[in-house]
Amino acid sequence: MTASSARKMTAPAVAARKGGEVPLVMVTAYDAPSARTVDGAGADMILVGDSVAMVVLGYDDTLQVTTDDMAHHVGAVARTRPNALVVADLPWLSYHVSVAETVHNAAQLIRAGAGAVKLEGGRKRIEAVRAILDAEIPVMGHIGLTPQSIHALGGFKVQGKELEAAKALADDASALADAGCFAIVLECVPDAVARVITEQVSIPTIGIGAGRHCDGQVLVWHDLLGFSGPDHRAPKFVRTYAAMELLATEAIERFCADVRAGTYPASAETYHMTDQMADALGLYGGTAEPELAQ
Ligand code: KIV
Repeated sequence: MTASSARKMTAPAVAARKGGEVPLVMVTAYDAPSARTVDGAGADMILVGDSVAMVVLGYDDTLQVTTDDMAHHVGAVARTRPNALVVADLPWLSYHVSVAETVHNAAQLIRAGAGAVKLEGGRKRIEAVRAILDAEIPVMGHIGLTPQSIHALGGFKVQGKELEAAKALADDASALADAGCFAIVLECVPDAVARVITEQVSIPTIGIGAGRHCDGQVLVWHDLLGFSGPDHRAPKFVRTYAAMELLATEAIERFCADVRAGTYPASAETYHMTDQMADALGLYGGTAEPELAQ
């Protein structure tokens, strides 16, 4: 076993962190550069989320991406060979139609390089969870605000605020844990509900907008880095650690200015031939190119 394979995170290793002192960390990534930043920072899991539809592809919701789209992004992430566990979102309609389709779609994401898949929903999706597990593919659950149900839920709203809804979420969490999921994402639920669920289930809960009592936390790469566009109103749970979109725009502004001022490329950024060759080719009117300012 190599040093790097010894550090490689797996679904059973994530499950074993239940109730541990150090919370689990998951961050989304969708391509090689974002995967390198997440893995280089030491996160435990990289989620290739169907949020790719919104934060990368410009759609208004996550319903627009297919299993082929997800596999394309999973492949880019996996080819960076991260130590973090790559979890791939099964997109909307990839696990709703039939058991056979569900298993084939999950397998496509595993063949693209994922180490586990995530799907949304609780008791309603237990048959799908069992079928995927039966194909030896680890499954992460996802309950609370489930963006693939955006039309049924009536918008991006906090879930489980009423007693009955909170109890239903707790029952969903237990059903997912009992079915064999290795972890569950809890999205946009009151912290008290997340706490009850975390204490009740035997697998790690990974919160996003679910307070601090979960076994781990997940954020979207673009939210965390300030790369969500000037008009984006981030939800209250987002902590933005950098202003990368501003920094990137400023850097590209400097490039535009250098090109327009004729100061890019400088001589050191240019391939040259010998003066003799330039003379032979009759370039520069027979004289060597004048040196540009650096
Ligand atoms: O797609 C995604 O980014 C997610 C996270 C919000 C958990 O599912």
